[in-house]
Amino acid sequence: MGTVTTSSDIGAETASKVLRGRQPQSATLVIFGAGGDLTKRLVVPALYHLVRARKLPDRFAVIGVDHNDQTTEQWSQSLTKMIQTLTPASRIDAAAWSWLTHRMHYMPADFMQAETFTRLERQLAKQREQNDIANVLFYLAVGERFFGPIVEQLGHAGLTKQSGGAWRRVIIEKPFGHDLSSAKALNAQILGVLSEDQIYRIDHFLGKETVQNILVLRFANGIFEPLWNRDHIDHVQITAAETIGVEGRGRFYESIGALRDMVPNHLFQLLAMIGMEPPISFDADAVRSKKTELVQAVHSISPDDAVPGQYGSGVVFGQRVQGYRHEPNVAPDSKTETYVALKLGIDNWRWAGVPFYMRTGKRLSARTTEIAIQFRQPPYALFRDTPVERLPANILTLRIQPDEGLSVSFNAKRPGTEIEIDGVAMDFAYRDYFEPVETVGYETLIYDSLIGDATLFQRADTVEAAWRAVQGLTDSWAQNHAADFPNYAAGSAGPAAADRLLARDGRAWLPISADHPHTAIRPDIAASIAAKVTP
Ligand code: BG6
Repeated sequence: MGTVTTSSDIGAETASKVLRGRQPQSATLVIFGAGGDLTKRLVVPALYHLVRARKLPDRFAVIGVDHNDQTTEQWSQSLTKMIQTLTPASRIDAAAWSWLTHRMHYMPADFMQAETFTRLERQLAKQREQNDIANVLFYLAVGERFFGPIVEQLGHAGLTKQSGGAWRRVIIEKPFGHDLSSAKALNAQILGVLSEDQIYRIDHFLGKETVQNILVLRFANGIFEPLWNRDHIDHVQITAAETIGVEGRGRFYESIGALRDMVPNHLFQLLAMIGMEPPISFDADAVRSKKTELVQAVHSISPDDAVPGQYGSGVVFGQRVQGYRHEPNVAPDSKTETYVALKLGIDNWRWAGVPFYMRTGKRLSARTTEIAIQFRQPPYALFRDTPVERLPANILTLRIQPDEGLSVSFNAKRPGTEIEIDGVAMDFAYRDYFEPVETVGYETLIYDSLIGDATLFQRADTVEAAWRAVQGLTDSWAQNHAADFPNYAAGSAGPAAADRLLARDGRAWLPISADHPHTAIRPDIAASIAAKVTP
C-alpha cells in the first residue's frame, strides 16, 4: 500500500472541515436512563472519546436522571468500572476521564412524576447561573413507553422552551414505535411539544462511519453515479447477518421480531443511502428529503416477497447453541421470526425494475453487514467459449462491518496462451488507509446533536414512510403464523426458502462471509476463484 494516495492528498481533510467544522456551544446533557446499559456502554464512552478528541465545549455538564437511589459519586464510580471493562486501565486517559466525571451530577428521580421536572429545572438553573450554560440536550436513553410521557413533562415544566438564543433539543432512541399507527401517535405526541428541528431520532446505523461513507462514495466521486441506475444495475443485496442470538432480550424480542427490529429502521437507512437521489446540498433537510422520497417510493411489501425464519439449535463458531424457543423468556412454541428475507421494489425512474433483496437474522454463520451492488452482464459474449451468462458478474460490495471497506469484482484474462477469463477483485480496507479511531459508534451522533446538525437523524416523515412499507407484511404475518418454525439451524445461512426467493428470479444470494471480497455469483465459478483471491 506504499504508493497509495492518502486522504489528505486528495483533499478529504478539507471536505471534512467543510462538513464538520463547527465547535459545539456550551451545553448541559441530561440523560434520562442514566443507570441503564445504553448510557454505560455507549453514551458515556462516546462522551469520553469526544473529550479525547477535543470535541466537547469547555462549558459542558452532564446530569444523569434515573430511578436508582444513588449519589453522584456512586454513579460516577459505576461508570468508571464500565469504562475500565471497555478499555484496559493502562490505556484510559485519566485526564480526559476526570474532565468528564467532574462535570457530572446524578439525580435520582421518577420519570413519570411532575416533581422530577421541577427539580431538574433547578439543576439547569444552577448551570445557567454558575457556569453560564443555557443550552440543553435531553437524551432519552429509556424504554419506548417513556418517550412520550417524558417529552410531555418536559413541555409542562417549560424545559423545551427556547429563548434568549439558547436551544433545547431531545434525542430519542430506537424503537420509534412498533408499527405505523404507534409511530404516528408518538410523532403527534412529541410534535405537540417540540418542533421537528428540536427532535433527534437516533438510528445507530447512521453513526457507523461506513454508512456515512456511502454518501461520500456516491457523490464525491465521478465514477459511480453514471452507473447508479436501472440501465447498469441488475440488483442489490443488503445483508445484516449476526452470529449472536437474542442475548437475554427474549421478552423484548418476542414482541418485536427480526422484521420490526431491523428492517424499517437500520436496513431502510442503508437502502435510502444507496437509492436516494443526489441532494442539492449536505444540509440536513436536503439530505433527509431525498432519503424520505426514496423510502416513500418503496412498494408495500407483499407476503409473497418475504421469508420469515426462526433458528433452531446448531453450531456457531464451533459451539453448540440452543434454538430460539429455548432462550430465556421465549415461548416454547414461539412464532416470532429471528430472520427475514425480502424482495423490495422501488417505484421511481432510477430504480424501476431493479430488485433490492434484503436479509437479516440472528445466529447466522458469520457476522457481516454489507451491501452488494451487482451490475448487469455485458450484452453479448465476445469471447470464444465464454457464454456471457457464465461470466462472473461485476459486483461492488460495501462492507459496513466488521471488516470495513469496499471491493469491486471484475473479469480478467488468466495469464497464458489461451483466452481464459476469471473473476478477480480489487479491495479497499479502511484499516489500510486510515488510523483507527476510538469509537463506540455514538460519537458523531452526540456531536452532531450538539452542533445542531440533524442529517444523521430520522425525520418524522421518513420513520412513517418506512413503517408504511412494512405494515401490510406485519399485518399478514400477525394473522398467518409461519407453521414451519424453526426453519434454519443456528450457524447456517438461513432458511432454504430464502434461497428460493432469489432462485425464482434466476439469482442467488452471495455467501454470508465476513472475510473475503465477492468475486462471483455462481458457486461453481466462485469455488475456482476463492483459492486465488487474497483476503
Ligand atoms: C439493534 C437491534 O437495534 O441493532 C439488535 O435491536 C441488533 O437486535 C443490533 O443486534 C445490531 O446492531 P449492530 O450495530 O451490532 O449491527
